[in-house]
Amino acid sequence: MAHQDLSWRTVVQRRRYSDGLDAVEERLSTVAGTYAEPLGSAARSLLGAGGKRVRPLLTLLCASRRAPLAAAVVHAATAAELLHMATLVHDDVLDRAELRRGRATVAHEYGVETAVSTGNFLLARAFAELALTGDGAAVALLSKTAVGLSEGEVLQRQEAYDVTLGVDAYRRRCERKTADLFAAAARLGALLSGIGERQQLALGEYGRLLGLAFQVFDDILDLDGDEDLTGKRLGADIRDGTVTLPLIYALETRPDLGPRLRDGGRLDEAGVAALIAEVRATGAIARARGTATGFIERAQRLLSACSDDVERDLLGEVARSVVDRYA
Ligand code: IPE
Ligand code: IPE
Ligand code: MG
Ligand code: MG
Repeated sequence: MAHQDLSWRTVVQRRRYSDGLDAVEERLSTVAGTYAEPLGSAARSLLGAGGKRVRPLLTLLCASRRAPLAAAVVHAATAAELLHMATLVHDDVLDRAELRRGRATVAHEYGVETAVSTGNFLLARAFAELALTGDGAAVALLSKTAVGLSEGEVLQRQEAYDVTLGVDAYRRRCERKTADLFAAAARLGALLSGIGERQQLALGEYGRLLGLAFQVFDDILDLDGDEDLTGKRLGADIRDGTVTLPLIYALETRPDLGPRLRDGGRLDEAGVAALIAEVRATGAIARARGTATGFIERAQRLLSACSDDVERDLLGEVARSVVDRYA
């Protein structure tokens, strides 16, 4: 997924996006990393821990190839990452997560009160950054996304430990908490670089499908990943009661796993490991992977209908890398 791994056609093309991402990084450090204690240090700690920067990459790659990357596109890419960071900090409060990007979460290190304020700080900075574009439609789009994100996160808590949750409810939650931000990140790049409405919509839909696949793979990695690579604790969804697609599929063939999943918050280390092994043995992970791959294929098809103002090949590679991340 890292931009270094993309296959550039020319040095000029590589420089365009690596310079763009460097500019985003600089903005992130300036607007999120320079503030008084404790908000500044909490934000700096999350920023310094890395992250894949998928959303800003999408914004840059969805900008028209016909023009140099404009400052507005960099502001929008930065805003997308800041909103993402805000949601990560708040999500870790709600999910009671301990590890993020390989480090203690802000809530774990600084306490819940500072984490709530740090999330608010990052959210405020995200919209100030986007306002620098002077584009009201861009601000309205990200604002709608942020509202949906809040709804998605609340839904996740309301649906916690509900082992009767179906695929449609899962998908509705993922649209709001993850896919809509991917869609907005993609669409903002197109919108702020003068790409026409029809292709803006197609790129937004591409982002949404990519985001859905991304969340399904993230949910798979929670059961089948390497903590050193994900930077998050295995089985976190079981502990916090998030009923994910692989768990829904596993419950279809093993409804008897329901009571233990409903009690996931009380399981000890060995109990979580045993449950993960039983979920894996149902074949649910391969099935969820198939669903995610289906979203990616649909995203790829949308790209083939775009004109060559759009970085179709690189966006196709980004889509493939979401799958490869798991492989
Ligand atoms: C984590 O997003 C939250 C989800 C939507 C699954 P990322 O996996 O993009 O997190 P970072 O930014 O790389 O840490
Ligand atoms: C992503 O869902 C929620 C966000 C919008 C941050 P998760 O709860 O699965 O994300 P991780 O696994 O904690 O990154
Ligand atoms: Mg979480
Ligand atoms: Mg997760």
